[in-house]
Amino acid sequence: METLILTTSKEDIEKAAEILRNGGLVAFPTETVYGLGANALDPDAVKRVYLAKGRPSDNPMIVHIGEKEGLRDLTDMMTRDMELLMEAIWPGPMTMVVPARDIVPRVTTGGLDTVAVRMPSDETARQLIIRSGVPIAAPSANLSGHPSPTTYRHCIDDLMGRVDAIICGEDCQVGIESTVIDMTGGDGKPPVILRPGIVTAERISQVLGKEVSLDPSLLKRPEIDKNTGNPVTGQDFRPRSPGMKYKHYAPQAEMTIFRGPHEAVLRTIGKRRAELEARGLKVAVITYSDSEQETAARQFFARLRECDKDGTDVILASALKEEGVGFSVMNRMFKSAGYNIEEVKEEKMKIAIASDHGGFGLKENIREYFAEKHPEIEMKDLGTYNEESVDYPLFGKLCGETVVTGAADLGIVCCGTGIGISIAANKVKGVRCALVTSVEMAHLAKEHNNANVLALGGRTTRPEAAFEMIEEWLTTEFAGGRHQRRTDLLDNM
Ligand code: TXA
Ligand code: MG
Repeated sequence: METLILTTSKEDIEKAAEILRNGGLVAFPTETVYGLGANALDPDAVKRVYLAKGRPSDNPMIVHIGEKEGLRDLTDMMTRDMELLMEAIWPGPMTMVVPARDIVPRVTTGGLDTVAVRMPSDETARQLIIRSGVPIAAPSANLSGHPSPTTYRHCIDDLMGRVDAIICGEDCQVGIESTVIDMTGGDGKPPVILRPGIVTAERISQVLGKEVSLDPSLLKRPEIDKNTGNPVTGQDFRPRSPGMKYKHYAPQAEMTIFRGPHEAVLRTIGKRRAELEARGLKVAVITYSDSEQETAARQFFARLRECDKDGTDVILASALKEEGVGFSVMNRMFKSAGYNIEEVKEEKMKIAIASDHGGFGLKENIREYFAEKHPEIEMKDLGTYNEESVDYPLFGKLCGETVVTGAADLGIVCCGTGIGISIAANKVKGVRCALVTSVEMAHLAKEHNNANVLALGGRTTRPEAAFEMIEEWLTTEFAGGRHQRRTDLLDNM
């Protein structure tokens, strides 16, 4: 099939409207995501949408109207709650599920006696619907299972040759699909959110002056069928919105979500990324802070598609707080990741420190410095605990082992010159201990050698100078690349 590429000009919208009237399929922009439209009252046209998307036919479509009055053609129900929501939020990213009139074909509603209706705010979408003169059934304009399309390029990638026309409008401002609310309970009951969106439960509750409820399946973490990737439905997971039964938004990469205190999550992601990249994998990181919920919503699907395009193997994402818009973004993110979630505990960074008698004084100075300046870091004092003469190799080895076993993230060793104890630490496989005597060396020890243990001389370095070197080492980033290759060689010697 040849796919017409159209602009948002008046003439092109007119052309698209005619295609829709004649039973054809048109992808068009809305404020949420791009939709794939067909005449909602024409069963054959709607069947073509299911075919073009490869969508299961029991997954009903949202019917889009251009004017509020259009709702009356689709349902006989009109409640106070519906009126309030229409007034406050339409045109906009909210869909209401209501009892369907007989003129709505059951193929449009996936066999249900209810219909989902939405009036989009996007001007192109509204003009298209109004010009076509019929309500427009439109699921998201992606192949079933792919991330929803938020730019026309995504529609071209998925639907070129499968639909009659694609209207190339602006990028979508909202970026996640509309909030779907079941209104069929009437004014006597709280409306039920079936799919969360940018219009939050709090907002709806505020408009109606009453509680709204959430479909319980939104709060569950379903099991995932290993073969199909779909959630397993049953006693524990029985969503009222048929679309929630299917695998969704899945990128090709394996995706993991890290949930926990933001800083700790970022640290964990950083570590994991380095490990995966060291194994030659292409890693993408998706992180937003809780103050960026809207941005996360707008960009999330596009980021997943970028990952697919550039052959990303693994996606590491940080979870947003599941509140407000964050709840809606996380609803999509959990599905994309097949509910692959790792909980991250607040963990202090741990530094092991050890010395012989010659480094004892400096070690104590460093411990005091950390206690005052870095309470967020936990120091593990491995001894020695006084100035009595001891053998430095034992302490160098102990510190090295503490680091490579993961009992500490990093290590610091001190002896009279730092030389002997650094040699000892370097006997432990996986330790990259650097003896430093200047800030510049401390910088390069991290940047080039990714030193995981720092050695300092108690008789050769003043405490203040040692503190500066340690700070430099802690705040410098490893350069990776060819240096990674070399540290890999070191670790495997
Ligand atoms: O923002 C949006 O809503 C976008 C744009 C294009 O408007 N459309 C969209 O459609 O996301 P779609 O088909 O991808 O998702 C429709 C969702 C599905 O989860 C479906 O199960 C649910 O709405 N739905 C539709 N009719 C329903 C009904 N009668 N009862 C319960 N859920 C329904
Ligand atoms: Mg969809």
